[in-house]
Amino acid sequence: MKALARIIAILGVLFGQSLIALAQDITALTKIGDVVSVEKSARQVTLSCTDSSQVQLTVLAADLIRVRAVFAKSIPQLDHSWAIAKEDWQTPHWTIREDQQNITISTDELEVVVRRSPLLIEFRNALTHEVINSDEQPMAYDKDGLLKSRMFDPAAGAFVAASKKLGFDEHFYGLGEKAARLDKRRSSFINWNSDTPGYNEGKDPIYQTIPFYIGLQKGSAYGIFFDNSYRSYFDFGHSSQRRAWFGAEGGELNYYFFQGPAMKKILGRYTQLTGRMPLPPMWALGNQQSRWSYYPQSMVEEVVKQYRERDLPLDVIHLDIDYMKNYRVFTFDGERFPDPKAFTRQLEQQGIKVVTIVDPGVKYQPKESTEQQTQIPAAKNGRYYVFDEGQEQNYFQRRANGDLFIPRVWPGESAFVDYTLPEARKWWGDLQRFYIDNGVAGIWNDMNEPSDFVDQTGAHQRDVVSYDEGQKTTHAKNRNTFALLMARATYEGLERNRPDRRPYVITRAGYAGIQRYSTMWIGDTNSSWDALALNLPMFMSLGLSGETFVGSDIGGFIGRGNGELLVRSYQVGFLTPFCRNHKDISGYDQEPWRFGKPYEDIIRKYLKLRYSLLPFLYTTLEESHRTGLPMFRPLMLNFQDDESTYNLDNEFMIGEDLLVAPILKPDLVRRLVYLPKGTWYDYWTNKKFTGGQMIEVDAPLEKVPMFVRAGAIIPTGPAMNYIGEKKIDKLTFTIYPDEKGAAVTQLYEDDGLSPSYKNGAFRRTSIRVRKAPLGFVIEVGASEGNYDPGTKRFEFLIASYEHTSKVVSVIADGKAHSLELK
Ligand code: GLC
Repeated sequence: MKALARIIAILGVLFGQSLIALAQDITALTKIGDVVSVEKSARQVTLSCTDSSQVQLTVLAADLIRVRAVFAKSIPQLDHSWAIAKEDWQTPHWTIREDQQNITISTDELEVVVRRSPLLIEFRNALTHEVINSDEQPMAYDKDGLLKSRMFDPAAGAFVAASKKLGFDEHFYGLGEKAARLDKRRSSFINWNSDTPGYNEGKDPIYQTIPFYIGLQKGSAYGIFFDNSYRSYFDFGHSSQRRAWFGAEGGELNYYFFQGPAMKKILGRYTQLTGRMPLPPMWALGNQQSRWSYYPQSMVEEVVKQYRERDLPLDVIHLDIDYMKNYRVFTFDGERFPDPKAFTRQLEQQGIKVVTIVDPGVKYQPKESTEQQTQIPAAKNGRYYVFDEGQEQNYFQRRANGDLFIPRVWPGESAFVDYTLPEARKWWGDLQRFYIDNGVAGIWNDMNEPSDFVDQTGAHQRDVVSYDEGQKTTHAKNRNTFALLMARATYEGLERNRPDRRPYVITRAGYAGIQRYSTMWIGDTNSSWDALALNLPMFMSLGLSGETFVGSDIGGFIGRGNGELLVRSYQVGFLTPFCRNHKDISGYDQEPWRFGKPYEDIIRKYLKLRYSLLPFLYTTLEESHRTGLPMFRPLMLNFQDDESTYNLDNEFMIGEDLLVAPILKPDLVRRLVYLPKGTWYDYWTNKKFTGGQMIEVDAPLEKVPMFVRAGAIIPTGPAMNYIGEKKIDKLTFTIYPDEKGAAVTQLYEDDGLSPSYKNGAFRRTSIRVRKAPLGFVIEVGASEGNYDPGTKRFEFLIASYEHTSKVVSVIADGKAHSLELK
């Protein structure tokens, strides 16, 4: 027993060292020296310090300052990040003031006060001079090698960290995909992309790294994007009540500071810096069905047949890893799918698109291998051309000693592409032609943390080298950006090889900026109530981190669910941008009909509702593409002044107007709902509620409580079984007048398929409603853009509970139109 205890204790020392030790030791790091000289250029101030460190402050916009620090050396010429989308900032007017104590940089919105000794940075509101955020200790680095996790690579330099004073009532949001609550105050996190099947709340790190957070204090927000792809750490007052700190196991202390005070403004800027989601094809908003794995072809056809016969909407079917020949990417198993082209064509005729999974592991199959090579296209002489080409062109990652890096993934021994090499990205992108030619509509990138069965921690990949703009850096820097670059190669390949169609990519892992190339889902969740409840803060945090097209496996991926859980999952999932039911190979079947008719009927109702809400959802999605504001959002983004929303993670909003309060526990048929200030309409009855309070509502299994903000107008179309099934010649606008009888909305339309929306081929129509003595005046504004969706009848309904409104006539363009009651 004693020996066992000792072994456990030793293991504890070995494995438990990472964050806890770091959290305790942050103050032990070597602090940056004092400022000795100041150099100013058109948009930058460079500070040189007593210890030869340098700090550069760059004014990018009046509300955006970049801080870049390197320790004990000068700032290098090379300045590159895979996350950044915009570099051509128009430098705003700014000034610098120096006195003996401080250097102050001022823009119209921010004052950055840098104290010379010790070097401390403080951000203030330029208008009120109030302190927004300030250093708790000087920026620091691990000169003496105190903090080293098992992943540490000596070539990476040293651990670097910045520490900020923690406000007594400061809240923290964002950080992308974390299995955590919405408000991250008093918790800490690691960013190290990891394959974590069956994760629960508290598991960290998981698949993605988005080192961006928003701090909110007294209603005012700021943002910090720590653009450093090394294994990074964020501690929001977990190890000490004094500080919120962030650091990384190498690289520069490179961060961007965003001034709000509005969170929406920060998100707009953050997504300007790291890019916004291009519009996916409209069918990506359709219902999707997946399973590890549907095969052979006849089984896929049966699933589709069931969907159609049961009158359940479906747009997309996913093919998981078993469609391939022994997991070789860019192949089809000829026995399971003998004629992929005919197969996808026949599904297309039923309105179904096919998405195939493509993992990064390319089966290791050197020429000498004797393995049977059947089903590889004859033109390639029966060889596995993907491995051959990658090998011949030297596109695969190697270890520092020059050996090919051979991880083990689904195909067994494999090779990974070095996506930092531009030629390799182009090659991988062009390989997508294989799928395009076979009629595949979208690509699902999985296992791209990158997962490796030899060692899921990533430690044994320490010496894997990537080209990285000629820097030949290791995995310590490149692991977290691997998925971003793989998705980029895929996206650009689809765009190049099928230019008349919008690419559709789905990813599991990612780094900041991933939204430019891919949509995402939150990986291998459990079929459990806890996992369902965790969906909400996860989607909302992703939305606060630039990723808008999010979703999770409806019903949960691992384990056995039941009808009630599935229904309640759909009552969340039917409003997530990515709406897909997916299940583990060893899990219980969970297509919508698997638990019996009562459940199936409810699921049908919600899927149909999703399709009829498409004009609203697509308009919201386009707004997200244009502004960076998420579709699925926390209430506090819309009601930043309302403290009651700061910790609210069991309700969500779709865009500005729809509030949803799902049931996230079994056997519950009532719940409390917090409604922010203002007036709200019960979506189902149109009954009005006054906000700024909790109300208790009924929520029997067939009902998810939903509320519409007074002042909104929700456009809807016909329910359909797939996008494009019916020609939409009529749209209905349900008007929810506010206290003054006013309401407003916009409707966005385009062809839903091609990238021509980028060149103005869209139509945006504004609709305004105001109260008039006898009823309402509805103004349909002149539309923007040059897309003509054909003639559509607009029908207007006034939401009314009491049915006291009278039908009156409306005059539009000089013609009388009738006004109906809902
Ligand atoms: C991973 C994915 C899961 C997929 C499975 C097999 O676990 O997260 O969605 O079904 O791999 O490809």
